[in-house]
Amino acid sequence: MADYKKPDFWSLKAQQESYPARSVYKLKEMDEKFGLLGKPGRNGFRVLDLGAAPGSWSLYVLRKFAAKKNSPAANSLTAVDLSPLSAQYGQGLFKGDNFSFIQGDMTSAEIRELILARGPFSLVLSDAAPATTGNRSVDTLRSLDLAETALAYAASSLEHGGALVIKVFQGGDAQELLKKIRQLFDTGKSFKPQACRRESFETYYLGLGKK
Ligand SMILES: C[S@@+](CC[C@H](N)C(=O)[O-])C[C@H]1O[C@@H](n2cnc3c(N)ncnc32)[C@H](O)[C@@H]1O
Repeated sequence: MADYKKPDFWSLKAQQESYPARSVYKLKEMDEKFGLLGKPGRNGFRVLDLGAAPGSWSLYVLRKFAAKKNSPAANSLTAVDLSPLSAQYGQGLFKGDNFSFIQGDMTSAEIRELILARGPFSLVLSDAAPATTGNRSVDTLRSLDLAETALAYAASSLEHGGALVIKVFQGGDAQELLKKIRQLFDTGKSFKPQACRRESFETYYLGLGKK
């Protein structure tokens, strides 16, 4: 069994850089490799972060917005999770006008309505993961359900040319999901960032260039 309690290189780096979770380095690597946050659209860059708590990915996006010189106010982030974000890490960024947090179940009709009202989006991120049971088939099925939900948000609220990142537990019908991503985007690919734990069966599917 993995020793998740022992701080590793990525956990220590997250502490030093004031991020609530090591998962930030997965997004950072994908952003640096695929330019996810690099090209703000004409009317501002709008990001949807699904499964956002404790808030590392959101904080990474907000810090990147804050570092941009040209009209950062036009950029916005909507974060969604069942649990609240770790406010003590937000450094005020979680209180900004360009940030909204929706607490609730991203698969419910009520939350869907709130999310869609904040679109269209330039980038949809989903690091959402079910509470794991230890039963790989059950966990994979639940993860796939969240991943399908994220893809549905991309299909209905991502602008032309936009990008999608979804966390997936490998196995089951995950390959079918990748096929659907390839139908919706110019490019669909699987990518496992270095910060993923070696023993973890998670990976990320990316859709680049929404058709
Ligand atoms: C791995 S964590 C995300 C970490 C986050 N990206 C960060 O960097 O801080 C997965 C999150 O998915 C959320 N989640 C799971 N099912 C969800 C659902 N149905 N609706 C909203 N969030 C959900 C969990 O509450 C959990 O906070």
